[in-house]
Amino acid sequence: MQYGHFDDEAREYVVTTPRTPYPWINYLGNEDFFSLISHTGGGYCFYRDARFRRLLRYRYNNSPTDVGGRALYIRDGDDVWTPAWMPMKSELDSFECRHGLGTTKIRGSRNGVTAEMLYLVPLGETAEVCRLTLTNESSTVKTLKVFSLVEFCLWNAWDDQTNFQRNFSIGEIEIEGSAIYHVTEYRERRNHYAVFGVNSPIAGFDTDRETFLGLYNGLHEPEAVLEGAPRNSIASGWAPIGSHCLEVELAPGESRSFVFVLGYVENPDEDKWERPGVVNKEPARALMARFSETAQLEAAVAELRDHWSSLLEISTVESSDERLNRMVNTWNPYQCMVTFNMSRSASYFESGIGRGMGFRDSNQDLLGFVHLVPERARQRIIDIASTQFADGSAYHQYQPLTKRGNNDIGSGFNDDPLWLIIGVAAYIKETGDFDILSEEVPFDNDEANTATLFEHLRRSFHFTLENLGPHGLPLIGRADWNDCLNLNCFSETPDEPYQTTANREGRTAESIFIAGQFVYTAPDYADLAEYMGFAEEATAAREHSTQMEAAILEHGWDGEWFLRAYDFFGNKVGSHECEDGQIFIEPQGFCVMAGVGVDDGRALRALDSVAERLATPYGIVLNQPAYSRYHVELGEISSYPPGYKENAGIFCHNNPWVMIAETRVGRGDRAFDYYKRIAAAYLEKISDVHRTEPYVYSQMVAGRDAVREGEAKNSWLTGTAAWNYVAIAHHILGIRPEFDGLRVSPCIGAEIQNFTVTRRCRGAVYRIRVTNSLKHDGPLLKVNGETTKGTLVPYAPAGETVDIDCET
Ligand code: GLC
Ligand code: GLC
Repeated sequence: MQYGHFDDEAREYVVTTPRTPYPWINYLGNEDFFSLISHTGGGYCFYRDARFRRLLRYRYNNSPTDVGGRALYIRDGDDVWTPAWMPMKSELDSFECRHGLGTTKIRGSRNGVTAEMLYLVPLGETAEVCRLTLTNESSTVKTLKVFSLVEFCLWNAWDDQTNFQRNFSIGEIEIEGSAIYHVTEYRERRNHYAVFGVNSPIAGFDTDRETFLGLYNGLHEPEAVLEGAPRNSIASGWAPIGSHCLEVELAPGESRSFVFVLGYVENPDEDKWERPGVVNKEPARALMARFSETAQLEAAVAELRDHWSSLLEISTVESSDERLNRMVNTWNPYQCMVTFNMSRSASYFESGIGRGMGFRDSNQDLLGFVHLVPERARQRIIDIASTQFADGSAYHQYQPLTKRGNNDIGSGFNDDPLWLIIGVAAYIKETGDFDILSEEVPFDNDEANTATLFEHLRRSFHFTLENLGPHGLPLIGRADWNDCLNLNCFSETPDEPYQTTANREGRTAESIFIAGQFVYTAPDYADLAEYMGFAEEATAAREHSTQMEAAILEHGWDGEWFLRAYDFFGNKVGSHECEDGQIFIEPQGFCVMAGVGVDDGRALRALDSVAERLATPYGIVLNQPAYSRYHVELGEISSYPPGYKENAGIFCHNNPWVMIAETRVGRGDRAFDYYKRIAAAYLEKISDVHRTEPYVYSQMVAGRDAVREGEAKNSWLTGTAAWNYVAIAHHILGIRPEFDGLRVSPCIGAEIQNFTVTRRCRGAVYRIRVTNSLKHDGPLLKVNGETTKGTLVPYAPAGETVDIDCET
């Protein structure tokens, strides 16, 4: 069942009923200010850091779900309704929400009045701006009262939800004209405040939640609105809100627009006050002046649209499959931008409080983002590398505001260091900016201890080598990519988190995943070493890789597939000898991607085992059989009920590794088949089962052992976005930047016959027409009409257009 449809022309998903199976959200903002907004207007916004600089209060896991954030009420005579449907769940004559690229437009109508709210965060601004357009479609004059509402968060979202003994006494507000200022804590250490203004005179306001709603009322029954009388309340402590009351008279057919601005403003310390006790509002007034006319807002919308067009133009496909086109051209890169911005911090499943930027996560997010805004990817790489420890290991997360490693989460995830090499290699392949390798970058943010970025990569690579176990395979440490495979943890206490609790000292638990990752990483690392003039290091790296491959084949092969790990006691994990968890997806994908077993048939065997044992109609599950009981020696993975999360859920992030592996062995039809099982647009028709947004990937879909098989959770912030982009764009459609040229090597099977890819890279444009006849052994290329050998097209000078014909 569907709850809307794609509008490809407008690059929007159009939600046509408010009763979606879950709140379907969008992200506004691309730089420093971000909003989460659901199709009924729920959500919140923050400046840079969802924990420390949150403007709006939002209650997770609430009942009903998704109330809070912003609301807008219309009082038409005695009839009070909410055009976004929530919070009053008004019966509407029509409803539509269009989630687009950085814009969300919600429109509802009732009794001849249509209200449309267009939300965006304009480029260069630290504000969420909303244009409200009211139209009288009836034949009589309408006299309306409009009430806006936002509820302020007292900045630190964690403290805001826990420290009531203090917080109920600190809320402060100032009012000036039509602008409401939230100035809690500005009197002491804060140099920032929030402003909520509207470009029109107001008939009244409220800033105290209890006065506006009534103490025992929900957002669906605000007393001030129901009585049509703003109270002009001034919050003092308790819960500060912002609500304007506008009186609007509309002749039949008449339309009027208003612009609301919800902004974040900082003042320099010496300019905090206008006069004693009165906040300096100058920058806020200037902000509101930039949106005092509707035309200014429309210009900002156009600017944002052009911005996205120029980003998305960098890589496009035209094929006969519209779902493929819309994923590759619009929604997948869009989600990659969001995961780049958010890492795993703020979504409808991530509270914005618990997690900073992941070392592993952010390096992977780069893979799908690097072609969009390479300069930002460069900065991100430097930020991440600056948190690395001098021995090559890494903090697992860092806080975006301080850019410091996060001590609460700690370190010891032994796959982390290698992801830095993968991220840096992707950046250099895209840009040719080898200079980044010579940048001086600190360890653990200590400016007294710096080294070149290449040296950081060297330490990453050698960290793995210095931490090998009894079989010559990498020690897993706290965990590898699979955060929940905790082989040294032995937790028996429900009150301690698996991720941070003390581990047993042990040098036996080894990861075949990291071994595969090492072999995958080594060729790029060796090339970079060579580039830097370290020929011996390059040769040594290649030898280490050969040895690691041999160790995998000798100790990491189970007969029909690759093993997953050896545990603390040296027992196998992911072997046919095991009771549960006999086969895992991760090493099959990563080892074959790395080329392990490709020559001797083991790669094919492993992938066939995936097809036989792990593939389901909704995607490939992580392991089988699911763990049916808790194994203290395996940790969190076995804590999940069968079919969910890492215990045999479809953990979408790792599915693209198998897709890429299938292209590695030349089975494009299988690769594309797997792609379609999890690609969001292909699931639109089963939205009632899938439940999350049909335009973005979710982290997890419940697996075949689960009670609710096929149901997705954790939409938006997942490594699936970047990896599935890499799988489809680089390996299935087959166009990928390498150090010395653009590789053109499609592997998509028979279903997609012909397609065209336009790819901008290093300033040149490549137009690639693929005739997918599947007649030849490998793709045959003509570059600008000339037959060429091989599939690597040397980079053209910036400004040139290269025409490539590719026949498979
Ligand atoms: C989550 C984490 C990611 C991890 C994965 C598997 O998505 O963000 O770092 O690799 O789970 O455990
Ligand atoms: C939990 C989640 C897992 C995630 C990890 C990150 O263990 O189950 O998916 O990767 O937290 O901290």
